[in-house]
Amino acid sequence: MLQPKIQPSDGLSFRTCSVFIFMVLQSVGEQAELICPHQPIVALAGDDVILPCHLEPPIDVSSKTVIWTRPGLDPKYIHVHQDGRLNFKKQNRFYHYHTALFVDELKNGNVSMKIFRVKLSDAGEYQCHLPSMKKKASIQLSVGVVSTPVIEFVSNENREVVLQCEAKGWYPEPEVFWLDDEGNLLSSGPTETVRGPDDLYNVSRRLTVEKSDNFTCRVQQKNIKQTRETHFYVPVQSSSHTEIMRSIIITLVFTVFLLLCVSIWAYNWRRIRNVKYIH
Ligand SMILES: *[C@@H]1O[C@H](CO)[C@@H](O)[C@H](O)[C@H]1NC(C)=O
Ligand SMILES: *[C@@H]1O[C@H](CO)[C@@H](O)[C@H](O)[C@H]1NC(C)=O
Repeated sequence: MLQPKIQPSDGLSFRTCSVFIFMVLQSVGEQAELICPHQPIVALAGDDVILPCHLEPPIDVSSKTVIWTRPGLDPKYIHVHQDGRLNFKKQNRFYHYHTALFVDELKNGNVSMKIFRVKLSDAGEYQCHLPSMKKKASIQLSVGVVSTPVIEFVSNENREVVLQCEAKGWYPEPEVFWLDDEGNLLSSGPTETVRGPDDLYNVSRRLTVEKSDNFTCRVQQKNIKQTRETHFYVPVQSSSHTEIMRSIIITLVFTVFLLLCVSIWAYNWRRIRNVKYIH
């Protein structure tokens, strides 16, 4: 132990003073709050993401130990910042070269951690610890996978056009909607969902339409706040050959019928007139 050469009278004031300083430092440390957002942080697979946590008020922690863990993981250490640098030995090997602290920001109490190229398996709870200040806070990471839907023309019979919208490789499971040009929801078939061996969802939904419009297929996932859309233009239906024949026949029949009616009426009218003349 370090025992400075001091007089007994000085000893008391030195001790009082250091206890006082210690208490002040500790109370500052205790008053400070380690703040991480309550809302999950959302990232898409392959992106770099920052888990933002900081001390409020800002306290310099550049010489302190900062530990990021994932409860439930073995070893649970994702990033251990000790003696001014990463303690590589303690780090879970799946996170080697995948994490970083903002070392220059530690003096501002910013203990945010960056994860490079997140994977689906990185989703979950993370904890940030400041052992010297007895601070601990949790943060949630959500990881999603998205793709742009593809619309396929399925069939065109009796003026009914069937379209199919398919979105592959989503996570978590998304919703699929069909909309008209004005953005109104259209009633369509049920959503078919298939989960692949990679845990990703393939979804598809059919729409049957009878008129021309610019249709939209919208695929969305609210938890990861992602929406992807594709448009498909159904042109005005040109009549098929049989339909043209049918309308010609209908017109002919109608014309013959009309002529018949007119001639019957004319015949009757003339007869009535003749009868009148005779009387
Ligand atoms: C902490 O540092 C990161 C990286 O520079 C930054 O994105 C974040 O906004 C900072 N947080 C605060 C509270 O300043
Ligand atoms: C359909 O609508 C979208 C936007 O609503 C537009 O970008 C696209 O050009 C339209 N397509 C056609 C063929 O009108």
